[in-house]
Amino acid sequence: MACCSSFLLLLIRLFFIFFTLSESAVQIQGLGIGINYGQIANNLPSPSRVSVLLRSLNISRVKLYDADPNVLVAFSNTNVEFIIGLGNEYLENMTDPIKAQNWVQQRVQPHISQTKITCITVGNEVFVSNDARLHSNLLPAMQTVYRTLVNLGLDKQVIVTTAHSLNILSNSFPPSAGSFRPDLAEYIQPLLNFQAQANSPFLINAYPFFAYKDSPSQVPLEYVLFQPNQGFMDPNTNLNYDNMLYAQIDAVYSAIKAMGHTDIEVRISETGWPSKGEENEIGASPQNAELYNGNLLKRIQAKQGTPANPSVPIDIHVFALFNENLKPGPASERNYGLYYPDGTPVYNIGLQGHLPGVPGVEFSFASKNIHILPAVFFSFLIYVIAILIWV
Ligand SMILES: *[C@@H]1O[C@H](CO)[C@@H](O)[C@H](O)[C@H]1NC(C)=O
Ligand SMILES: *[C@@H]1O[C@H](CO)[C@@H](O)[C@H](O)[C@H]1NC(C)=O
Repeated sequence: MACCSSFLLLLIRLFFIFFTLSESAVQIQGLGIGINYGQIANNLPSPSRVSVLLRSLNISRVKLYDADPNVLVAFSNTNVEFIIGLGNEYLENMTDPIKAQNWVQQRVQPHISQTKITCITVGNEVFVSNDARLHSNLLPAMQTVYRTLVNLGLDKQVIVTTAHSLNILSNSFPPSAGSFRPDLAEYIQPLLNFQAQANSPFLINAYPFFAYKDSPSQVPLEYVLFQPNQGFMDPNTNLNYDNMLYAQIDAVYSAIKAMGHTDIEVRISETGWPSKGEENEIGASPQNAELYNGNLLKRIQAKQGTPANPSVPIDIHVFALFNENLKPGPASERNYGLYYPDGTPVYNIGLQGHLPGVPGVEFSFASKNIHILPAVFFSFLIYVIAILIWV
C-alpha cells in the first residue's frame, strides 16, 4: 500500500516536472524578435549573466559582430540561435580556402553541437567604405566560407551572408522604384546570383531615424515610429505604406528584382532608435525609442509582412541589447540600447526580464522556471532515492 501511494506521488511529480519543462520551452521559443549583442563597451555584464537576461526576456535570436567564444559557450545548451560575424578585417584572409577552413574549424565547429549557430555574416556594411579591395574581396570571401561549410557538412545548418547599409540604394521611394547604386552593380549582381544559389537572405541595416533626423520637417514622426498615420501611397502599385521601415524593405526587394531576382528574402539585420543624442540629432529621445521599438515588437509578434510581401513575416534583429559606451561618433551611437549595462531597462517596451542580482527589476515566468528547474530535479532525485530505499 505504501509503495503504491509512493508511486502515485512519483507520477504526480513526474507530471509536474514535465509540465514545468514544456512550459519553459514554449516561453523560450517566445517572441520572434532578434537582438544585436554589440560589445563595444568596457562595462557590460558577463556573457553568462546576459544569457540569463535574454532567456528571461524570451529572446531566442541573437546577432554578434564576431564569434566571441565566451558568448558562444555561455549560451551552450540553450535554444538561442546565433548569427555570428566575420569583421571586415577578415575578408582578405577569408578568400584563402586554408584560412577560411581554419577559421571555421577553430571558431565555429567547436561550438556547434552545444550552441545553435545558424548564420555567418561575412563583413558588415562593406560598401560604406571606399576601399575597393574590400569591395572586391567580399564575394570571394563569402564563397570560400560557404565552400568550407559545404566541405565540412555544415552548409545545411549554417547559412552565409553579409549585412549592408541602406546606402547601397540610390533610390528608395516609392518602394516599387527601389534600385541599387549604379557604381555598385558590378559587385551586387554576382553577389545576388551567389546568394540565390546558396539560399542566403539579403541583410539590410535600416534606420528610419536617420531619415527623420536629416529632415524632421518633411518626414512625419508618426510615419517613422509606426504610430497611426495616413501613410504614403506607392503610385506604381497602389500599395499604402504606413511606416518607413516597410517601405525601405520593399525598396530593397524592388532593387533585387531589378537585377533579375525574386528568389532572395530580405531581412533586417539592424534597426533601432537612440534614446539620447547630440542636440542636433532631432528625434533621439527615450519616448521615441520606446515607441519605435515597442511598436515594432508588436508587429513582429503579429508576424506581419510588408505591403509588397504580405506573406513573408518581417525578420528583424533590433539594435541593440545594451548601450555601448565606447562606440565612436555622435552621442546617439552610444545610446541605442534597450538596456543599461547594469541590466536595468532604458525604457519599457513591455519586455520584462532581469539580470541576476539586479534589484527592482521584475522577474518573468521564464526566468523563474530557469531557477526552479535545479530545485525540481533535486527533489526528484531525493524522491527516487527514497523509493529505492523503501523498495
Ligand atoms: C514569453 O513568451 C510566452 C509565449 O510566447 C508568453 O506567454 C510570455 O508572457 C513571454 N514572457 C515574457 C517575459 O515576455
Ligand atoms: C590574416 O592572415 C595573416 C597571415 O596568416 C595573419 O597574420 C593575420 O593576423 C590574419 N588577419 C586576421 C584579421 O586574422
